Amino acid sequence: MKNISIIMILIILFLSGCESSNQSSELYDSKDEIDKKVDSVLSLMTLQEKIGQMNQYNGFWNVTGPEPKEGDAAKKYEHLRTGMVGSMLNIRGVDEVRKVQKIAVEESRLGIPLIIGFDVIHGYKTISPIPLAEAASWDMEAIKKSAAVAAAESAASGINWTFAPMVDISRDARWGRVMEGAGEDPYLGSKIAYARVKGFQGDDLSAVNTVAATAKHFAGYGFSESGRDYNTVDVGTSTLYNIILPPFKATIEADVKTFMNSFNELNGIPATGNKFLQRDILKEKWKFDGFVVSDWGSIVEMKNHGYAKNDKEAAMLAANAGSDMDMESYLYVNHLEELIADGNVDEDLIDDAVKRILKVKFELGLFEDPYKYCDSDREKRVVGSKEINEVVLDMAKKSIVLLKNENNLLPLKKEGQKIALIGPLSDDKNSPLGSWRIAVDDNTAISVLEGMKQYDKNTLTHQKGADLVVGNPAFVFETEINETGTSGFQAAIKIAKNADVVVMVLGEYGFQSGEGRSRTNLDLPGVQQQLLEAVYKVNKKVVLVLMNGRPLTINWADKNIPAIVEAWHLGTQSGNAIVQVLYGDYNPSGKLPMTFPRSVGQVPIYYNYKNTGRPTYPGNNLVFWSHFSDEENTPLYPFGYGLSYTTFKYDHLKLSTDSFRGNEKIEVTFDLYNTGKYEGKEVVQLYIRDLYGSITRPVKELKGFEMVSLKPGETKQVMFTINKEMLKFYTANEKWETETGDFKVFIGGSSYTKLEADFEFIN
Ligand code: BGC
Repeated sequence: MKNISIIMILIILFLSGCESSNQSSELYDSKDEIDKKVDSVLSLMTLQEKIGQMNQYNGFWNVTGPEPKEGDAAKKYEHLRTGMVGSMLNIRGVDEVRKVQKIAVEESRLGIPLIIGFDVIHGYKTISPIPLAEAASWDMEAIKKSAAVAAAESAASGINWTFAPMVDISRDARWGRVMEGAGEDPYLGSKIAYARVKGFQGDDLSAVNTVAATAKHFAGYGFSESGRDYNTVDVGTSTLYNIILPPFKATIEADVKTFMNSFNELNGIPATGNKFLQRDILKEKWKFDGFVVSDWGSIVEMKNHGYAKNDKEAAMLAANAGSDMDMESYLYVNHLEELIADGNVDEDLIDDAVKRILKVKFELGLFEDPYKYCDSDREKRVVGSKEINEVVLDMAKKSIVLLKNENNLLPLKKEGQKIALIGPLSDDKNSPLGSWRIAVDDNTAISVLEGMKQYDKNTLTHQKGADLVVGNPAFVFETEINETGTSGFQAAIKIAKNADVVVMVLGEYGFQSGEGRSRTNLDLPGVQQQLLEAVYKVNKKVVLVLMNGRPLTINWADKNIPAIVEAWHLGTQSGNAIVQVLYGDYNPSGKLPMTFPRSVGQVPIYYNYKNTGRPTYPGNNLVFWSHFSDEENTPLYPFGYGLSYTTFKYDHLKLSTDSFRGNEKIEVTFDLYNTGKYEGKEVVQLYIRDLYGSITRPVKELKGFEMVSLKPGETKQVMFTINKEMLKFYTANEKWETETGDFKVFIGGSSYTKLEADFEFIN
């Protein structure tokens, strides 16, 4: 503790000269005081030590990207001792974190603590639903809680910084990383981005159960051409400002502490070397005062992009563009000193980056106690606790979307039924954990089979029917994942024949989505479609439970199978959540956060599309209209869609006035009826269409939603308010502003609603 004491004495001495200084317990209250402490630490640092703070190394296992050749452990240890490392990622567990922290704090000259980063994307050891699934809940409180328990669990295990939330909007289900985001819509995406940051960071970042969050990947990563991961991104100004940037802006409003840039180029300039994004927009316009970490190796990859001539130039471009910390490129430690000596990077920029990094470390309280996240007792108590599992189960139930329920096949009867459970994922305890779940033990999810066994007044038979995967699929290609054997079909068909109802659990293996898992085909992988059809032939009463990390093209199932439940990859409590929905102990209320296409050829497909000069509408089936000759334009299931065991009716849409100006408002009211037999929750949605503008406008944009609970037979009047603020967009003037003109408002239970009214904004 010798070195840390020196720093702390210096800081306290410095602060004792300041009027605002206080007792050490209150040292973290004021932003100004933190800035002063940051300055005092900075004044002690050599240039090398400053560069060290900008350097982040991967730990000694759990690689989440390609490791550079020089990434050997000996070098990392040496750099920890010489103060050349500011952060490590992929180190976890109190004992391991303590080991590296101890070297940094007790062996380096200044003893500056490390910030420990980890991809806590949807839970740490207890896994919540994949983020796309959570988005389907449209429940901001539940999403915030889920992030909060993930923060508490990971912080108890030594981590103090998560590389989440991923707030990339994407319209392309081929892109494997859609599982990590909130779907296709900037409005819903912004609300969720805000909730997640608040959940991770809590009200007090220095508390032991909160972690710093990261808004990633800045920016445009979700728009890679053809959905192929890491591919080129080329988008226009309107898409950038109106679609891609809003969720990032929302994280600033939630006071997010860090940003991560991205692998992609944006209109010719790699995001990592993109000054316009990182300096002009993020740090200047948005006044972001946290720090930007590069993505894994994204600095050195600027050579591959054909943007940097060599390593040194890559380091220069990244530092000048505002990338404050180098994740696993080794280029800042190797080249920044020389670049400053040559005059190619200004030392002020280095000081700015280091201040940002130190500030977050102070806010986390790491200078006060670098081992505050290293309490073994807390780790034992918190990790995997009952409370965390309860939150995760609640989140999982809320994430399920009922896609089809013909003749009320669901909910299942609880007694006297013969149920056949079939499908490669029916007893899978791994896939429901989804992708991006580094710390969890394999095979720890509750399977559907385990869940079904709890309802023991029915007779349950089980056959997988087919396999989806052979061996460990974590790092194999898609083609090696899909099993082709059909020898299990007969046994499955046999139990299906004798059953009252068949429950089939099909979909994607847990690692078929996620980073680097792009697909060109969105059908059920392997022989699952064949299995589904073979079982359906002998028993029509099939409930299809889908487990997947992205929208799938399930046209045949939609046409033939009477009940379809979208269960995504729901995490540790998956089987419990699914059976509670199947048996009606929980009435589903999820709504899709991403459009389900009919065919991959329709992708990118999204609800807020533009009308074009030649829109199709029923009746104009002529050739010269914007359409496909072999498929409809419409999706299989639209954004915002999802059923309940009860039914809802929307009626009596009224506007308080049909025109408004300035700061006036329009009150939109309507009646929502529960016309079915169950108590249920409905996410009522408000969309607006701006009929013409200085740039063309989408046919609909989500501008409000609310969860309404109704008992059978109950009616509630619901009210939304429309104001000028809601009509703003990034106009041809290159400003966020409202334009006068004619609008439509739509109310309903999905983006396909037709209940509409007109209004005008005058000025
Ligand atoms: C991903 C990031 C992630 C990082 C660290 C990269 O490959 O793109 O999202 O945070 O690895 O694991």
